[in-house]
Amino acid sequence: EKGGYDHFMIKEIFEQPRSIADSMRGRLRAADLHLQLGGLDSYLDKLACAERIIIVGCGTSWHAGLVAEYLFEELARINVEVEYASEFRYRNPVIRENDMVIAISQSGETADTLAAIELAKSRGASIFGVCNVVGSSIARATHAGAYTHAGPEIGVASTKAFTAQVTVLTLIAIAVARKKNTITEESYRQLLTALEAMPGKVEKVFEHASRIKEIAYIFTYARNFIYLGRGLNFPVALEGALKLKEISYIHAEGYPAAEMKHGPIALIDEDMPVVFLATRDSSYEKIVSNIQEVKARKGRVIAIVTEGDTLIPEMVDFVIEVPEVHESLTPLVSVIPLQLLSYYIAVMRGRNVDQPRNLAKSVTVE
Ligand code: F6R
Repeated sequence: EKGGYDHFMIKEIFEQPRSIADSMRGRLRAADLHLQLGGLDSYLDKLACAERIIIVGCGTSWHAGLVAEYLFEELARINVEVEYASEFRYRNPVIRENDMVIAISQSGETADTLAAIELAKSRGASIFGVCNVVGSSIARATHAGAYTHAGPEIGVASTKAFTAQVTVLTLIAIAVARKKNTITEESYRQLLTALEAMPGKVEKVFEHASRIKEIAYIFTYARNFIYLGRGLNFPVALEGALKLKEISYIHAEGYPAAEMKHGPIALIDEDMPVVFLATRDSSYEKIVSNIQEVKARKGRVIAIVTEGDTLIPEMVDFVIEVPEVHESLTPLVSVIPLQLLSYYIAVMRGRNVDQPRNLAKSVTVE
């Protein structure tokens, strides 16, 4: 059932080219500029007119929501709030008539997310669900939705569900942007073409798996880790830190790279591994100076860079390359080395990777 792999988690990591393709299947065809999500049809107009989108979720699904925030703002020019379901539901949130709520959940059974949906519904909001498990409680509680179609995820640490969530949310953001005319036909075509190429791009990251394993070996006994990124790579930093915490039990924190100087930089010394998401995008120059700040304090830097980068490898201790992709799609490749890094570290520490202590696949307690 593990298809020859030692753990479900690694099987699911390597499945991502296929699960990403599955999440787009029948929905996207770049050749004739086709983009259609069945469940979205009746909601496309509503989303296009929305004054604000409120995204709710927990854990990794909340991170996918943060990626979506950047995309909805950038492409569709819609104001987005991303909320932890557990915080949202216990506040007295302001929900206006033209607000749309998007709920994200792999299992579709997370108690806090379900309760947030019920609360938003009771205030008259329309709820769109992005779930993986067909027929789950959250899928049934929402007014409409799009499944992620990543297939069953058995490993407790979410991997392929995250990339499928990001893919589907990207499709939705593009569809809304096209509807609103906030992107040109040319950028629309570029995005669709780039999305179709993503499974192949993810496949290319796997060529570096043995290098990532070597790096994992070096850092197996680290006690702390910091993950830094900017823009779309900021949620990826959070996700990388969460993956490491949950399966290896190493303390890790994700931060927006520019926040370092407001406190966390005090933690940097020669024992502190710092993972930088440093792909060549619009934050590249800024990230380069953040790397310099960390190196000046002797931090040990592992940088995720775009293939062919020659500047950063000169500055840091270790690099892992990812292929160049459309900037809006960066998280889909930059998260992969972080999943692999946490997996290999956890295995080397002898952890129960598929069933980490204290965790359950569906969090049905509040
Ligand atoms: C992280 C992880 C959890 C879940 C969270 C939400 O790897 O698995 O943080 O992402 O419990 O679960 P869903 O998406 O099922 O609502």
